[in-house]
Order: sequence, then structure tokens, then C-alpha cells
Amino acid sequence: MKNSTFYITTPIYYVNDVPHIGHAYTTVAADVAARFYRMHLGAENVFFLTGTDEHGAKVALSAEKNNISPQEFTDQKSAAFQTTWDSMSISYNDFIRTTEKRHKKVVHEFLKTLKNAKTPQGNHALYEAEYEGLYCVGCEAYKFETDLVDGKCPDHGTEPELLKEMNWFFRLSDFTEILTEKINSGELVIRPESRANEILGLLKQGLQDVAISRRKVEWGVDLPFDTDQTVYVWIEALMNYISALGGPKGKLFSRFWPANCHLVGKDIVKFHAVIWPAMLMALDIPIPQQVFAHGFFTIDGSKMSKTRGNVIDPNELIDLYGTDATRYLLLSQFHFGADGDFSRDRLKNMYNAELANELGNLVNRTISMTDKYFSAVVPEYNVDYDKFFEFDLQTDWNRYDQHMQLFQFEQALEVIWGNVRRCNAYIDEQKPWELANTDRDVLADVMYNLLETLRHIAIMLYPFMPEKSVELLKQLGFDAGSEFSQPLDDLKLWSRLPLGQKLSKGAPLFPRIQLEDHA
Ligand code: MSP
Repeated sequence: MKNSTFYITTPIYYVNDVPHIGHAYTTVAADVAARFYRMHLGAENVFFLTGTDEHGAKVALSAEKNNISPQEFTDQKSAAFQTTWDSMSISYNDFIRTTEKRHKKVVHEFLKTLKNAKTPQGNHALYEAEYEGLYCVGCEAYKFETDLVDGKCPDHGTEPELLKEMNWFFRLSDFTEILTEKINSGELVIRPESRANEILGLLKQGLQDVAISRRKVEWGVDLPFDTDQTVYVWIEALMNYISALGGPKGKLFSRFWPANCHLVGKDIVKFHAVIWPAMLMALDIPIPQQVFAHGFFTIDGSKMSKTRGNVIDPNELIDLYGTDATRYLLLSQFHFGADGDFSRDRLKNMYNAELANELGNLVNRTISMTDKYFSAVVPEYNVDYDKFFEFDLQTDWNRYDQHMQLFQFEQALEVIWGNVRRCNAYIDEQKPWELANTDRDVLADVMYNLLETLRHIAIMLYPFMPEKSVELLKQLGFDAGSEFSQPLDDLKLWSRLPLGQKLSKGAPLFPRIQLEDHA
């Protein structure tokens, strides 16, 4: 098990679409994980990759419809993804585009190696044969009759093309047993368990060989040993995870491969948990450690689609709520891994209830009271008072770490919000405004407990809301940069907030949004 470095990837997104919150959901989740591991392992030991999938019939068709060359089209669209990720504070280490030379070079190397490779049964991994069957351009995937509803692709509502052409095939069927073994032994972890069972079910039926090239698709990487063919877009797309590391001889490869986690939506698990590891085995390359598949969400109960006109642009949410709140709202709504529903109304209510009222108010009133009662200086506390804060926080850090490692983001947020709510209740119980007249010693303890818990909250929040976390630390009087350069184990200790530190009250972290302002 590779523990000292962490390599996480998102799918590379098709550029025929504009970035929407479906893409943002996976990308923000990967960013949260990357930031969490950077805190644990050090930034230099984490590699976070995202990018765009730019070849194939679907992209070429979209370019044609827009009357521009595929290259110009992909340049524009890929840039739109990068701009969106920048405005969402996505801290990717690299952004790979499949039209880049570095990618094509590795794809060529891999295909040449595959041409001579053998399967576990000793057969040639690749062979040429006639393919006769259906292909859905929208999915960029081969289809069986049983995949269709009334003869149409259920996802795209279109009739798939009938293909009859000579292609190169990968002998996936020879990998059924070895893949089953790897999944059962935990060498390849598929999460959540329901997805692992789905894949094991597929394996039980036996795998079929897959075509890895197309004859008439020009917008692609040509097959090095048969230039009449281009590599099937999915096959070369999967290779991005290694081409971005400079190929199997690259320095980054030796540091970061195998990937700790390919984070994907449930729609593309089979490609990542079956075809990709089988190809890697044929190439004699270690397989990824984990494929985590999150669920799909609907918008106000219906599938998000261009035809329904209900696609949400992440920039729309950022304009309304700001970057960090958007990140929070995306990940806090439902269990990561399960399907869920987004409703614009619920987003607003949650913003006001959880961010403006609960967290925002807590910060605001704690800092204002310290300002009023102790001239904005962290007061000296009396030891041993309210030990439970310290004790609970230690347990909470353990719970938080575990949830984060298992991609249980909403549960990690629950741990943070448990502290937010506890502090709000504590203020209501202790009534600092009364203590100010009756017992200044207890008042000092109460304010210290609140301020110090806010420091812990700020650190736990960092992966989710990096800017707000820094703002909160600043309000507590810290220089966030030097704070985050400390070992995390030190930051987790109780009473690191220096006595006498001067606070610096700032603007409200989450100004309330009037619901009627935004219909
Ligand atoms: N290009 C392929 C991936 C190749 S990876 C080697 C692809 N691209 S895609 O643009 O269609 O992106 C699919 C991914 O977008 C899903 O796996 C998921 O991560 C995300 N989502 C798209 N719509 C979504 C929802 N409605 N809900 C949640 N995630 C969604 O497939």
C-alpha cells in the first residue's frame, strides 16, 4: 500500500459540453481530498490531476456544428473548464488535454507494447476482427440491444449507429478471473460497496472483448501499427492518468503511481474498474488502488440535461453564494456515493441556515464579544475549566480524519457543524453578557473555549472552504500561511491559541441572502 504520497484524479471531461455542476461535483470532491492529504502528507507529496477529453466523433461533430476546426473548438472549450476550475479554487497540480503531444506520445508507446503483450492465459492481448454492432456517439460507447429502450439510447434518446468495420480488439475476456481475484483480495478497492458488487456481478457473467480502435473517426490518435485506424476515444482517455505523469518512465510516475484513487461518477465505473486495470495488467503496470464512484444527482427531481434546460452552471452558484459556499453546498447535501437531488430553493435555505446563521453568526458574535469584553485580545483563562471541549475535539479530529479518508464528506462536515452548534448552544447557556457583570474569570474561560474551538473549526474547514478558513484564522489574529506550515498534529492540539493574541474583526463570513432577491 502506497501511503507516503497521494495521487487522485477526476475523469477528464468531454469538451462538447460546457462545465456544469455535475462536473463540478466530482472536481470539488477531488480538490477537497487533495487539500486534506496535503495537510497530512505535505503539499509536495500530493498530486491532483484533472483535464479534458478532446478526441472522438462526438467532439468532432460539435466542432463541425460550430463551424470551426476541432482543434480551435477544443482549445476554447478546454479553456472554459480551466477558468471554471480556477473560479472554484480547484488546486489541481496538472491539467491534461488529450490533444497534447505528451499524451499522444504515451498512447503510442502503450499501444505498441499492447500489440506484443500477452493475456494471463498466454493469448495475444490484441487481435483484429470485424466489429458488427451498435455505437452511441453521445455516449462514445458500444451498445447491445439490451442497453436500448425502444431501440434508442436511454441517455441520449437517439438511435445508435450500426457499425460494421474491421477493428482491433483487446482480449478483455481473458482478464475475468484475475480481476475478480484482485477485487476480492482488496488489491483493487471499488467503493461504495454497491458499485463493487455491481462490477463483481458483471465479472460473474464473464467479460466480452472490447474494440480499441475505430476506422472512420479521424479526430483521434492514430494507431501506431495500423494508421487506417484511430484509437477508440475511451481507451486513450484512460491513459491520461499515466501520460500526465510523463509515462511509465517519468519521475512523477515513480513517485505517484499507482493512483490512490480515481474519483468518478457511477456512469463510468466499468471503464475504470474493469477495462483500465485489465489494460494495465497487460502492460505489466501496477493497477490503481481504488476507484471511488459517487452517485448522480438530479435537479428538482429531474435528470439534468440540455434538452430539459435545467443544467446548472457552477458560475451561477458562485455569483450567488461565492466560491466557498458553493463548494460547501455541493458536498453537504447528501451522502457522497449515493444519488441525490439538488433544488435551488434548498440551496438558499441551507446557505442562510448553516452558513449565515450557524457558522457566520457564531464567528461574528464570538469576535464581537471578545472585542467588547476584552478589547479584542484573547483572554487569559483559568486552567481546567470546561475540559470537555478539549476532550471532545480530540475525538472529533479522529472522526473527521476517518470520514475524510473514506470520502464521507458530508459526515466530516457534520463533525465540524457539531462543534459550531455546540458553541452556539454554549453561548446561549453561559450568557457571556451576564457573566460580564457577575464573573469575569468564568467569562474569560468561556471566551477562550469559543475562540479556540473556532480555530479548530477553521482548520477542519480548510479542505472544503479554503478562503473562508484563512479569513477566519485572520480574524482570530493568525497569519494563516505560517499557521498552515505547522505540522497538522500540532494544530490539532488544544490551547494553541496564544493568550493575549490580538483579534482582527472582519466583514461577516457569510452575509445573509434575502430569499426573495433571487427568484
Ligand atoms: N470523458 C469521459 C471520462 C473519461 S475519464 C478517462 C466522460 N466525460 S463527461 O464529461 O461525460 O463526464 C462524466 C463525469 O461527470 C461523470 O463521471 C461524473 O463524474 C460527472 N457528472 C456528470 N453529470 C453528473 C451528474 N448529474 N451528477 C453527478 N456527476 C455527474 O465521461
